[in-house]
Amino acid sequence: MDPQAKKIALRKIPHGVYVVGLKHKAQLNAFTATWLTQVSFTPPLVALGIRKDAHSFDMMKRGKVFSVNLLGKDQKALAEHFVKPAAVMGEKLKDVKYRGGKTGAPILEEAIAFFECEVREIANQHGDHAVVIGEVVDAGVRADVPVLTLMDTGWHYGG
Ligand SMILES: Cc1cc2nc3c(=O)[nH]c(=O)nc-3n(C[C@H](O)[C@H](O)[C@H](O)COP(=O)(O)O)c2cc1C
Repeated sequence: MDPQAKKIALRKIPHGVYVVGLKHKAQLNAFTATWLTQVSFTPPLVALGIRKDAHSFDMMKRGKVFSVNLLGKDQKALAEHFVKPAAVMGEKLKDVKYRGGKTGAPILEEAIAFFECEVREIANQHGDHAVVIGEVVDAGVRADVPVLTLMDTGWHYGG
């Protein structure tokens, strides 16, 4: 395989940029993610690729719920805020307004829309990321406007 071609081709997969929220007991956290897609209509399922060495993966396995906060085109700074690793759990949420959703996972007040999921399956045998399958159990829309994409940000995550 040509590694350069692999990188270029994989980076052409279009992605959104989201803030994924976690809850386990009294602990909350959130991180920026892009490897997310819908994988079933009935029931409504999404798949999320999550780093096995991220603080959030541990919370995902324990709490078994997550929220997906969708951002608008002008909210790159919000995504940037949640890229940094959680030195102290929940620290990234201190500067941001949010509420607990139906699952308890954090819903950002500024998000243009959100959905919340209960974890149905985690496939983590292969690779540096695990695949989390979540069933959408609640959703809301604040503003029906175009979503922030990876291409809008000029960032790369993939290849
Ligand atoms: C553009 C971009 C996209 C990202 N997408 C993902 C992703 O889909 N899944 C993931 O696990 N980490 C992704 N990350 C990395 C996490 O945001 C990063 O590891 C974060 O520090 C994890 O936070 P935590 O320590 O609070 O768990 C992405 C980072 C960037 C810059």
